[in-house]
Parts: sequence; structure tokens; C-alpha cells
Amino acid sequence: MSVYVASTTAPVNIATLKYWGKRDKNLNLPTNSSISVTLAQQDLRTLTSVATSESFPEDKLWLNGKEESLQSERTQHCLQDLRDLRKQLEAADPSLPRFSQWKLRIVSENNFPTAAGLASSAAGFAALVVAIAKLYQLPQSYSDISKIARKGSGSACRSLFGGYVAWEMGSNPDGSDSKAVEIAPMEHWPQMKAAVLVACADKKDTPSTSGMQQTVATSDLFQERINVVVPKRFEEMKQAILNKDFALFAELTMKDSNSFHATCLDSFPPIFYMNDTSRKIVKLCHFINAFYGETIVAYTYDAGPNAVLYYLQENEEKLFAFIYKVFQNNQGWDSKFSAKELAKFSEY
Ligand code: PMV
Repeated sequence: MSVYVASTTAPVNIATLKYWGKRDKNLNLPTNSSISVTLAQQDLRTLTSVATSESFPEDKLWLNGKEESLQSERTQHCLQDLRDLRKQLEAADPSLPRFSQWKLRIVSENNFPTAAGLASSAAGFAALVVAIAKLYQLPQSYSDISKIARKGSGSACRSLFGGYVAWEMGSNPDGSDSKAVEIAPMEHWPQMKAAVLVACADKKDTPSTSGMQQTVATSDLFQERINVVVPKRFEEMKQAILNKDFALFAELTMKDSNSFHATCLDSFPPIFYMNDTSRKIVKLCHFINAFYGETIVAYTYDAGPNAVLYYLQENEEKLFAFIYKVFQNNQGWDSKFSAKELAKFSEY
């Protein structure tokens, strides 16, 4: 009996304008639009291969070598949508094999350690959905397919694209216009780089879905954020990216991270994602920008304590001189600076 196979990879994406809040929990419809920047140089990816055959008795999934359940409502939602689209193709062309009725075997691997403290669900759902869409030879665009990935994990819709990506929140109650679109490909601004500083590799204490629920229900600040702050910032950040204006992009990114964490703190009871090390890195970034008299680095934090820093290639040495100086005694650093060079940065 024939076995049909397809594979794909999807990148981890980091939001520079945060999605925080759902207006529909089942469809993962957000209360605001968001933006992410995904860089090839980060090369943090999920690789997923899918196979289907008439002879497979049940759907099965192996994640990083371990068999996992496919029974979550979100995963089932994605599989059902993909099978429905395939069914339409089969109805139009009776010569096509009946993949929509066959079971799937899915093998998924992350090329980054789980201990890196990065949310892997976005890349995971994006790779799953795209691999099956390829296997089923669906004609839909990536933006259309992103609506299915969104149902798995909201931020997953942005991982269908590399580079600079917007998730437009849309307004239709059925989610048909809540999708990811490319703002610009990575090559548009290839000097942009990112570094991940792991402040703590433990699992986050409040999962994003319950954190969002608590914020939407209890934070007063949140209304100002979604109605006034983010809509303006969304347009400004898109322009900053299109104009390759790093100072503006960095300012908006840092402000938006702060605004999102402020609404978490304003929730009742409050939610703390950042820790003392995270706050030390925030202060360090502001110190570095002040030291050089120009904005060379931006920080952003998701629902956890780890920092993602954005900077331009030309400023890498300037930035890392400070980072190495401050964290040189931590494990995992390989400083390329001599003690003499590091001494230059002793003001911090
Ligand atoms: O897609 P989720 O449910 O994992 O939520 C992601 C939320 C943030 O990472 C904090 C922000 C974002 O836009 O990715």
C-alpha cells in the first residue's frame, strides 16, 4: 500500500508588538493586531514530516522522539480544517486519493533545546499545518493557511512567514479575516539581528491562555492598550520596518514589551513574567543606548523572563562588549573580548 510523505520547517517567531488577549477563545481571535520579526540567523525551527496511507489505523504524533497525544481540541481543530479543505479537492477531482479519510503519522523535531525557554508551540503548529497542507496539495495561500495554524496557537499564524510579519486581528466573528501577512521579507532589512538571553529556562508559571484571560477580565490598563496604544503603534512599527528606521523600531519594541508586562502587573491578582535578571537586562539596554548616544539595541520579553535583543549587525561588537562584561561569569559565554577591551566598558 502506498505511503505519501511531505516535510517542512517553520521558524520560532518573536513578537515585537505583542498579541495579548483573546476576543474568541475557541477560534483564537485576538483583541489586537501584532507584529513579529523572524530572522534566519536565529535559525530556531521545528522540522515536521507527515505521512498518510490507507493502511494507517490511527493518527499518531512523535514530538522530539517521544509519542504524544493528538487529542487536544486545538490540534483536532487544525486537522479537521485541513481534512475539510482536502475533501473539497477530492470532490472536484474523483481521481485524487482519498487522503481526507486516511490517518496521519506526524514526526516533529525542534532544533533548539526546550531548555532555551522559548515557546515552541508557534513553530510547532505552523510546521504541522504547513506540512499537512503540502501533503494534501492545498491550493490556498500561506495567509489563508495561517488561519488554521492560528487555531492551534494564536502566535503560530505568524510562523508561516520569515522576516517581518503582521497578524491582522480582523473583525469577522468567524475569524475569516484574522490572518498573518508579510510586511517585508527578511532580505528587506538583512542587517537586523537578534540574540536570546536566557534568564531562566524553567517553564513559565502562568500559561499564556490563562494569563490573557486574567488580564482581559481584570486589568483597566488593558482597555487603553488595545483601543488606543496598539492600533497607533501597529501602523508606526510597520512604517519603521519599511523605512528601516532602527531607532524608531527599537523604541516601539521596548515600549510595547513594557506595556504588555504592565497590563500583566495590572491584572488582579498580578502576573509576573519578568524576574530580577530580566529587569537588569532592561536597565543594561537603556544604559548601553545612553552610553553610545544612539539607540543600538532593543529588548522584548514574551510571557517569560528571557530577553530577546534586536540590533543591527554593524553594532554587534559594541553591544556584546557590554553583554560579555556583565555576564562573563555566567555559564555558556564565549567572550571574544580581552580583559583590556572589557575594561573599556567598566562604567557599567
Ligand atoms: O500564541 P500564544 O498563546 O502562545 O501567545 C503568545 C503570547 C506572546 O508570546 C506573549 C505574545 C506574542 O505575540 O507572541
